[in-house]
Amino acid sequence: MLYSKNITRHPVKGIGTWTDGELFYLVRTGIMRDGTFAPTMWRPLLSDEDIYSVIAFLKSDDPLVEAADVDNKEIKYSLVAKFILRFLMKPEEYSEKKIKSPDPKDKIAYGRYLANGVASCYGCHSGNNNKADHVIPENSFEFYGGGSKFVDINGRDILTPNLTMDKETGLGKWSEDDFIRATRDAFRPDGSYIRFPMQRYVEFSDYELSAIWEYLQTVPKIRKPILKSEEYRLTGKDISDGKKIYYKYSCNSCHGDDGIGIYDLRQVNHIYPRDKELKKWIENSSQFSANSKMPTWKGVIEENEYKPLLKYVRLLGEHAD
Ligand code: HEC
Ligand code: HEC
Repeated sequence: MLYSKNITRHPVKGIGTWTDGELFYLVRTGIMRDGTFAPTMWRPLLSDEDIYSVIAFLKSDDPLVEAADVDNKEIKYSLVAKFILRFLMKPEEYSEKKIKSPDPKDKIAYGRYLANGVASCYGCHSGNNNKADHVIPENSFEFYGGGSKFVDINGRDILTPNLTMDKETGLGKWSEDDFIRATRDAFRPDGSYIRFPMQRYVEFSDYELSAIWEYLQTVPKIRKPILKSEEYRLTGKDISDGKKIYYKYSCNSCHGDDGIGIYDLRQVNHIYPRDKELKKWIENSSQFSANSKMPTWKGVIEENEYKPLLKYVRLLGEHAD
């Protein structure tokens, strides 16, 4: 299990008393003010101005960074999305060199910056996340060739796909629209769901995703066998239809096999006493909460699947009580 640090404004458990200089140093080098290395916060390629925006955000009144009175190891997957999930890395020397953001009009350079500097897509999507080079990403082992292994929240192995433009084993047959939908909404062209730890990049605009797509066209193609993630097999007798649907749509990839996961579903019976409300939420949660990370299921889950699914979701809540 990976945890992200408490980076809320809480004065003791978070970063409430840190100076801008200390925060800047941390993001650029990954080194905390007590000298320890915090790879989750390390963004060596982020430009000076973007680091200042991040600092302003961390110090803002945004509910995402409201002082949280939680001990560091208890925070699972803070949704301050861009700062999650860094890997085994060693810190670099601090350099006084200024880093500038590229001009968004230079689309490929901008896409490269967003993919590598901001979102670290290569960190997960290269051949081995422990052999990624975070200073010169292009030197990463099998750069964007896929194959890094993660353990999902249910303890199964999940492997990253090849994002190079190889036609057989990469994204070579995808259209730009396919890519934008996959990255923003997390659905593949065949309608299947792209599971956690991939997340929906709802923060990026169409232009930004299009820039990433154009940049990926320039990355050398890699052809390698497609690696399969560990499958979820439902075994045993009397598996309810609802449970099958819960697995079919990978609800368990975020909400866990037991309904807890990165977001606890076990309050639904209290929050949505009527099926109508529960269904509405599941269909399109971004209507109710902006920047929701929950996928929009309208048009994906079939009408006749809702009844058994809702029943199963409610059952998860009952077991908790
Ligand atoms: C934390 C690791 C992680 C990061 C960071 C990440 N991804 Fe992914 N991505 C994954 C995993 C794991 C999958 C496979 C999920 C599955 O099998 O359901 C995936 C799947 C995908 C797919 C589906 C491809 C296919 O052939 O099925 C696309 C497209 C994609 N990611 C694009 C991106 C882009 C673009 C970025 C950066 C903006 C990014 N990813 C960042 C882990 C990551
Ligand atoms: C990408 C991860 C992800 C997947 C996959 C996912 N959810 Fe969610 N879900 C969330 C998150 C995160 C929330 C918390 C609110 C938010 O961010 O919008 C949530 C909230 C919910 C809620 C509201 C819970 C509450 O207490 O208000 C329900 C109900 C729900 N999800 C059901 C489902 C069902 C059913 C599926 C499968 C069809 C599913 N989710 C798939 C991430 C996910």
